[in-house]
Amino acid sequence: MNKDRIEEAQAEALEACKAAETPEALEGVRITYLGRKGLLPAMMKGLKGLAPGERAAAGRAANAFKEAVTQALAERRRTLQAPAPVAGGPGADTSLPGRWHRLGSMHPVSRVIEEAVRIFGEVGFTVAEGPDIESAYHNFEALNTPPHHPSLDPQDTFWLDSGELLRTQTSPVQIRVMESRQPPVRVITPGRCYRRDTTDATHSANFHQIEGLHVDENGGSLSDLKGVLAHFAHEMMGPEVGVRFRPHFFPFTEPSVECDFSCHVCGGGGCRVCKFSGWIEIAGAGVVDPRVYAKVGYDAERLSGYAFGMGVERIAMVKYGIEDIRMLYDNDVRFLEQFA
Ligand code: DAH
Repeated sequence: MNKDRIEEAQAEALEACKAAETPEALEGVRITYLGRKGLLPAMMKGLKGLAPGERAAAGRAANAFKEAVTQALAERRRTLQAPAPVAGGPGADTSLPGRWHRLGSMHPVSRVIEEAVRIFGEVGFTVAEGPDIESAYHNFEALNTPPHHPSLDPQDTFWLDSGELLRTQTSPVQIRVMESRQPPVRVITPGRCYRRDTTDATHSANFHQIEGLHVDENGGSLSDLKGVLAHFAHEMMGPEVGVRFRPHFFPFTEPSVECDFSCHVCGGGGCRVCKFSGWIEIAGAGVVDPRVYAKVGYDAERLSGYAFGMGVERIAMVKYGIEDIRMLYDNDVRFLEQFA
């Protein structure tokens, strides 16, 4: 074989290496070209028969053949043996854009509830729950709400055909807890409430409350109630928050108060969130009316306690500076992902 034929054979051998799809096929290529009975030994032997002028060039070409084919075989072997590329591993194309997963975030309403459960939990309250579909008895009558009370009006309450209703407050869970256990009772009950309110920046037909109830033989006075709510306010909003109590009326507490927090958004100076009053109404509360104990068979002579019910959305709005309650229900991810 002269130099030209050897170079042709080399090109052919390199093609065969590339075309081999399995290690076995590649071994076949090696045997064909470099094996003991293959082309290379025959090539070497053939050099002797060449004219002296051609022999040296053909010899160099044969050496080049051996080197090139040996290298091509080794390279191809590595490729065939390499494991399939794994993401981020060797063989991954790190110049490609990465795969992006949206991070979930906790809804502000859930965050406030979770935080409230922690704060009240630290001072001895456990969590209780009740049904969203409630009896009129638990939602109104057992809470000493007289039959002519405006909240029983179909204008205010979602009544169901069954005669039941969607609870307008979490207060009926107080009744259910007292019906099912003996004092001491110290619970909070977060949950959904429903009212036939027209939706606007501060009202929603579906909202959340957290009810609290503490009843014991020395279950608590109005000042205990004020202490617990002030502690909650400071833990939830920060030490600088102001807390004030205004006399009010609820059928199931006597005396009754409403509890306001100073507006966290403007620091009390007045802004849209607090409607320029500097304060936001957060909770209704009071000392449990003995008539409620009578309904659940508790001994009013022996017991005392306080109760409160706070609006979760109200707290979320002041805590995070949310101006419109509807933002909490629009499920716009651009809003929600700010709470990641
Ligand atoms: N349930 C009342 C409301 O929705 C809030 C409330 C007031 C709850 C006084 C209480 C309470 O437990 O003692 O307006």
